[in-house]
Amino acid sequence: MMPPPSSSSRSLRCWAEIDLAALERNLRSIRASLPAHMRYVAVVKADAYGHGLHHAAARLMHAGADLFAVANIAEAAALRELGPGWPILVLSPLLPDEDAAIAEVDVAPTISGADEACRFEAVGRAAGRTIPVHLKIDTGMGRAGVWHDEAAALFARLGACRHLRLAGIYTHFASPDDDPEFTDEQRRRFLAVLDRCPGLKLGELFIHADNSAGIESMSAGSPFNAVRIGLLQFGVLPRPNSLLAQARTEPVFSFRTRVGLVKHLPRGTTISYGRTHAIARDSVVAILCAGYADGLPRAASNRAQVLIRGRRCPVLGRVTMDQTVVDVTDAPGVTCGDEVVLVGRQGTEEITLAEFSRAADTIPWETLTSVTKRVPRVYKTILGV
Ligand SMILES: Cc1ncc(COP(=O)(O)O)c(C=O)c1O
Repeated sequence: MMPPPSSSSRSLRCWAEIDLAALERNLRSIRASLPAHMRYVAVVKADAYGHGLHHAAARLMHAGADLFAVANIAEAAALRELGPGWPILVLSPLLPDEDAAIAEVDVAPTISGADEACRFEAVGRAAGRTIPVHLKIDTGMGRAGVWHDEAAALFARLGACRHLRLAGIYTHFASPDDDPEFTDEQRRRFLAVLDRCPGLKLGELFIHADNSAGIESMSAGSPFNAVRIGLLQFGVLPRPNSLLAQARTEPVFSFRTRVGLVKHLPRGTTISYGRTHAIARDSVVAILCAGYADGLPRAASNRAQVLIRGRRCPVLGRVTMDQTVVDVTDAPGVTCGDEVVLVGRQGTEEITLAEFSRAADTIPWETLTSVTKRVPRVYKTILGV
């Protein structure tokens, strides 16, 4: 069951605000910047990157996603609760005891080798139906997928599996954001595989490689006919100069907490565990109702800034499990209950997900998926775009 949507954040101590209308606009905008025939694979693994699977996927369905990609069978089953018929691709390898769920949940697993082909063929035979599968080619990621030199043999083997139907063929780039030469090499290896697979009916398959950072594979005449988008649909551009920078996406996620206490401390006082910060002047500090148990990482200690009353206020000392201290000496009038922005806008100031992630020595993907269960998701716009 989905929790009832809430539009009020009054009684919340720490919450994530999710703008579903922005999510829908983002998908439409990304689509509009792609060639018309490109299909859209919406990557919604890890609870839709922490945004809430049911709410986010329902909105992406409404916006016209063609296929959903999740990490595992449990996520696929949760997505399936939204309704039958939506095609779902499982990206990670399945465990043998998960195989039966392929037919029960009605998903397309990824195939990386002959063993999986045999296992999934047996599932199809037992269920008396064909199982759609996506063949994954390892072109240099070194993770899931059949090594590209061995792909043609696996493709031939799939041809003999009467209960499997090839629905897609894909690869994943290792460094699309910072290594265009290697990404080109991966693309070449992938295209060479397509050439070496006789009888491949490209028009009937999803042929996909590009994620948010690497949308460059669909030049004229290219066989790629789908993109596989995660982060960008949530309004975060991993590579500023990527082709999709023109898609103009907006942040979907913001992360907020409140001031729990304001107090004065004399110069020289040390702050929090380990005494890693000593205040250099008589100060006013605010104690925030959020810590690493909410998803404000300990690595942000002494580094991150937050917004209170439209002003940037630095984190002092170590972030603790449930509370974090910030300096509000230069933000007059701060009182208990004030809203604090960890990621998002307040007045004319903004702390982007990228800035927050840098301060926490991590990447936006990890920040989003590290916001914990304790943090309610507040859905800002349920209806209308
Ligand atoms: C196989 C695969 N495809 C696509 C994506 C989506 O990538 P992004 O969030 O950068 O768009 C991911 C993300 O981790 C992935 O693992």
